[in-house]
Amino acid sequence: MERFRITGPTRLVGSVTVAGAKNAALPALAATLLAEQPVVLDNLPQVQDIRTMTRLLEHLGVSARKAETGLELEPAQRPAETVAPYELVKTMRASVLVLGPSLARWGRARVSLPGGCAIGVRPIDQHLAGLEALGAEVRLEHGDVTARAERLRGARFRFAIPTVTGTENLLMAACLADGVTRLTNCAREPEIVDLAKLLQAMGASIEGAGTETITIEGRPALGGARHAVTGDRIEAGTYLIGAAISGGEVLVQGARPGDLTALLEVLRESGAEVEAGSEGVRVRGRGELRCPDVATAPYPGFPTDLQAQFMALATQSDRTTTIHESVFENRFQHAAELNRMGARIRIEGSRARVEGRSRLLGANVMATDLRASAGLVLAALCAHGDTVIDRIYHLDRGYERMESKLQQLGARVERTA
Ligand code: EPU
Repeated sequence: MERFRITGPTRLVGSVTVAGAKNAALPALAATLLAEQPVVLDNLPQVQDIRTMTRLLEHLGVSARKAETGLELEPAQRPAETVAPYELVKTMRASVLVLGPSLARWGRARVSLPGGCAIGVRPIDQHLAGLEALGAEVRLEHGDVTARAERLRGARFRFAIPTVTGTENLLMAACLADGVTRLTNCAREPEIVDLAKLLQAMGASIEGAGTETITIEGRPALGGARHAVTGDRIEAGTYLIGAAISGGEVLVQGARPGDLTALLEVLRESGAEVEAGSEGVRVRGRGELRCPDVATAPYPGFPTDLQAQFMALATQSDRTTTIHESVFENRFQHAAELNRMGARIRIEGSRARVEGRSRLLGANVMATDLRASAGLVLAALCAHGDTVIDRIYHLDRGYERMESKLQQLGARVERTA
């Protein structure tokens, strides 16, 4: 199993270019199941989750081949395999994104039920209730979700809570339903707006993506398109917090400040200098940090996907910071690992109290999930001595060439077996 060895402390200085967003690329790939002609996707990040989703699509009859730029995906023309097997789903919960489009296109779909994961139980009841509202018959059999509907019918559906992949699944399914679908209490993440742009380029009629009400007028068929996936705001945010924690200066080229408002506000309040321009976003750490309390929330709130990285930053603040994780019920596993490095973090239910001014020391730590690992990497940058982070396959799921981007910024990091 591969590891990172990071020798700190180091200041991150320089510029990096943001990769395509993993969480926009995954639904974009799933959306190709709806098309009758080839779809070309540009700016896909070179990360493990994208390779897993591509394998899943191939299993579902899509042929994928490298185009001049990006990836060309040609869906099957006849009802193909509609079963997403457990071996693939268990490694990546986002596999559930093939449920809506497979059902809408072929009238049936079977997806292994994603189980619990490192960050909580994560049910998919809202995906299923939404598909039922569109007329599907949904069953749970032998650990698989089976959905059937000769043709989906447009309907009104209100999500009980905003869910990102739930909104994406329903949005995709509704594009091929008969009539108009109106989804309310939708998630508003930029990745949903990006998916809607792709679907519109394929011929779908969608209004309101990025707001809490999305209206879709179903079409009998969708065609091909070419689409460049939006930049990864979480990757961008990770390097920007890296600049603040290391007292360095980083320009993230291609970062879209409008997608990062909550983080940039928190970094400014913490005392970092933030410059947002057309080129990207630059953060300069200025020594003393005074982190505000933070509560994660669905977009446009502070992203849960940056909570672990912010926790690392809060260990260096001059005050005690309270972090409230309100999106997932069990997303604090990095706290114990940070404490092994000398942080003083106490977990009380969904709140973490992070004492500031901790002198972190390098230690052997274990990555538990993708973003938790990113938090450990940032802590290692300001820790004294060597930190060895085990199980970095978690990082490889969602960060493109992380060690080379960090090295480019001056970090001393190596990948070891
Ligand atoms: N939820 C339900 N029922 C549902 C769906 C969700 O109760 O049917 C709950 C979840 O358990 C959670 C909350 O709703 O408490 C929000 O979950 P959501 O469905 O929005 O999460 P997701 O769609 O499974 C996506 C990202 C995650 C990110 C969350 C929240 C993708 C592929 N994944 O997950 O990204 O943390 O939204 O922003 O888009 C990551 O990249 O590391 C990652 C975990």
